[in-house]
Amino acid sequence: MLVKSYGSAVYGIKATTITIEVNVSRGVNFLLVGLPDSAVKESQQRIESALQMQGYKLPGRKVVINMAPADIRKEGSAYDLPLAVGMLAAHELIKNDRLEHCLIMGELSLDGTIQSIKGALPIALQARHEGFTSCIFPAQNAGEAAIVDGITVYGATNIKEVIDLLDGNGTLQPVKIDINREFLHNFTCESDFSDVKGQENVKRAMEIAAAGGHNIILIGPPGAGKTMLSKRLPEILPPLTIEEALETTKIHSVAGKTNRETALVTKRPFRSPHHTISDVALVGGGSFPQPGEISLAHNGVLFLDELPEFKRTVLEVMRQPLEDRVITISRARFAVEYPASFMLVASMNPCPCGFYNHPEKKCMCAPGMVQKYLNRISGPLLDRIDIHIEVVPVPFEKLSEQRPAESSKVIRERVVAARNIQRARFAKHEGTHCNAQMSSRMLQKYCEIDAAGQNILKAAMQKLGLSARAYDRIIKVSRTIADLEASANIQVQHLAEAIQYRSLDREGWGA
Ligand SMILES: Nc1ncnc2c1ncn2[C@@H]1O[C@H](COP(=O)(O)OP(=O)(O)OP(=O)(O)O)[C@@H](O)[C@H]1O
Ligand SMILES: [Mg+2]
Ligand SMILES: [Zn+2]
Repeated sequence: MLVKSYGSAVYGIKATTITIEVNVSRGVNFLLVGLPDSAVKESQQRIESALQMQGYKLPGRKVVINMAPADIRKEGSAYDLPLAVGMLAAHELIKNDRLEHCLIMGELSLDGTIQSIKGALPIALQARHEGFTSCIFPAQNAGEAAIVDGITVYGATNIKEVIDLLDGNGTLQPVKIDINREFLHNFTCESDFSDVKGQENVKRAMEIAAAGGHNIILIGPPGAGKTMLSKRLPEILPPLTIEEALETTKIHSVAGKTNRETALVTKRPFRSPHHTISDVALVGGGSFPQPGEISLAHNGVLFLDELPEFKRTVLEVMRQPLEDRVITISRARFAVEYPASFMLVASMNPCPCGFYNHPEKKCMCAPGMVQKYLNRISGPLLDRIDIHIEVVPVPFEKLSEQRPAESSKVIRERVVAARNIQRARFAKHEGTHCNAQMSSRMLQKYCEIDAAGQNILKAAMQKLGLSARAYDRIIKVSRTIADLEASANIQVQHLAEAIQYRSLDREGWGA
């Protein structure tokens, strides 16, 4: 008997439905065709064992399985479940009337329990798009799939539950997720900007960075609070929209990072990979391509602590996605894309000993070492960082001071207001959402500088020895500062403040 079941293949963050045709006839052969990789081929052993443990024995017949479309490579062990179900139905051991409208994915253990899979969310989205009415996934992945409305999602822990469900006498209930509740439930933060004492100027710089989507680097000695401040940046960014949450969750789903408790990524991600990270882990890749940290940080913050400690090659591969906000991974036969629109937040010590420019302690580094340390970060990468801010440790008396500082919520409200101005400004420019993304053309259009402004810019460039590349950065940042004040034009004081955020461009730095 010929039976069809349905599974799915995920490339990038897109899923393609795979039709599994199982034909059982006289004979004793087993044949699996349609570009399966070795893990798929090995499924026969897992399926036989899993079924045996549930008391099913497949009679020794000729089984031919075809996975279509044939030009898509089927990888991994997540096809075990649709293959097993297809084989049972083809042997007429279970009913097959529901298979036509049901998409099934899951890996089987030898005892019949179902293991989690990657990509349940994009798979469910595609299934709904193609008119499937239900999906069966491993219980661990059912939550993220259930975000998709208009399709019934079951989460199974054991193949027996799936068999019973298909036979129409099961107890398995559809998984339901209330997106609005997920959002509310997850909105509490365990940290807040008010935990950070003093550091008003750094907080101000971070507010500007958040308001304009500017990449930012914090420079300061050990213990100054760089890590503490950076971790709080996602809290002052505008809340995720449902659309953004879905985008980010898709990537986390494909990377297998979602779990039962948090079906939907409802907070802006904050990713802080260690400086020993490899290129592939940072930007994505591998022989079965997987998203890297830059994509897991999509719609959130990528924090690179101790930036000069990262391998230069690793930082180099980040340049293209920083510009394009998407990463393309090419393989001989295909290419996949992962979105990677994130805010880069970096931190560094000013020199190897950490105390260059310190108000009290003395830098012990040999002459030239400071510049050499900075040179570990390539110019083109520094070019993509709009705001440089020096973090000076807060004196002990101030740390013990009890005066409450501004909360993340209050700062976030100002950020949101500034973002709304930008949304209106860039309404006609698809793909541009904030000032940091302005092209040089837009810069000319939206950032007119009057004669007084031109003068101070000129003076600053000469006096501070700022490079030409600093020029555009200053104007972009001053646009954001003006937006925070709801000022239509960029004024002298906005430029003056923006000029302060170019520490690393100054001629004297490290000399
Ligand atoms: N302004 C501050 N308000 C409150 N606590 C602070 C402040 N600055 C530093 N701390 C305390 O000091 C600790 C060390 O700060 P943090 O780890 O952020 O420093 P850092 O600049 O990242 O140092 P390193 O260069 O060693 O990584 C924090 O966990 C926090 O407890
Ligand atoms: Mg730190
Ligand atoms: Zn030093």
